[in-house]
Amino acid sequence: MAKDKYSKIPGGLFISFEGIDYCGKSTQVKLLASRLGSEGYGILVVREPGGTQISEKIRDILLDNANLKLAAEAELLLYEASRAQLTRELIIPGKDAGKIVLSDRYFDSSTAYQGYGRGLDIESIHKMNMIASAGIKPDTTFLFDLPAETAQTRYASVPLFKDRLEEEKIDFHRRVRSGFLAIAAAEPFRFKILDADDDIEYISGKIYTEISQFLR
Ligand code: TYD
Repeated sequence: MAKDKYSKIPGGLFISFEGIDYCGKSTQVKLLASRLGSEGYGILVVREPGGTQISEKIRDILLDNANLKLAAEAELLLYEASRAQLTRELIIPGKDAGKIVLSDRYFDSSTAYQGYGRGLDIESIHKMNMIASAGIKPDTTFLFDLPAETAQTRYASVPLFKDRLEEEKIDFHRRVRSGFLAIAAAEPFRFKILDADDDIEYISGKIYTEISQFLR
């Protein structure tokens, strides 16, 4: 199918994927994108922080291990700045073009990491999230739930360079995990909670089934 000849969804569809580091969401974003793409839908995959030239520059600041002095408030504002740019430059135009936008993290990560993890005021974060997102919300959010201990075992087995947030202590990741669960409990219709310890095929089947209801 030609690039501009995809099956359009009026108003588009916006799906976000959330969870603590090493929960496996990025693998699932790729699997879903390729399945829906092969069915002829227009797909836009983005990630946070990042996704645009400007947002990727902000990402570099955020994940740089040298930036140990970064204040929690500065960190929050940088995530929001990255999001504000990504939303206006790619997400809104993608939705307007009738695409399925898959976002590897979105504003719930700020509430979970900077709010529950760092202890910044949740109400203020909600307000900033609304400014950054221009008031748009994911139609569905998949939360990949995983105990911080399991994530740490996965983390230890990956011999890669670790970024600034991955180097945080386990207690931080525990707070982030329970933060995500609290956010999901407050919006049960938007959130679908997945057990991130299930196998990859099983999880991708569940995600596809959930998404199918929007495609009929
Ligand atoms: P990344 O390497 O993209 O990790 P992941 O594959 O787990 O998404 O790094 C993003 C890091 O930024 C991750 O530790 C979560 C964190 N983060 C926040 O703290 N607040 C936010 O608003 C966002 C979007 C991410």
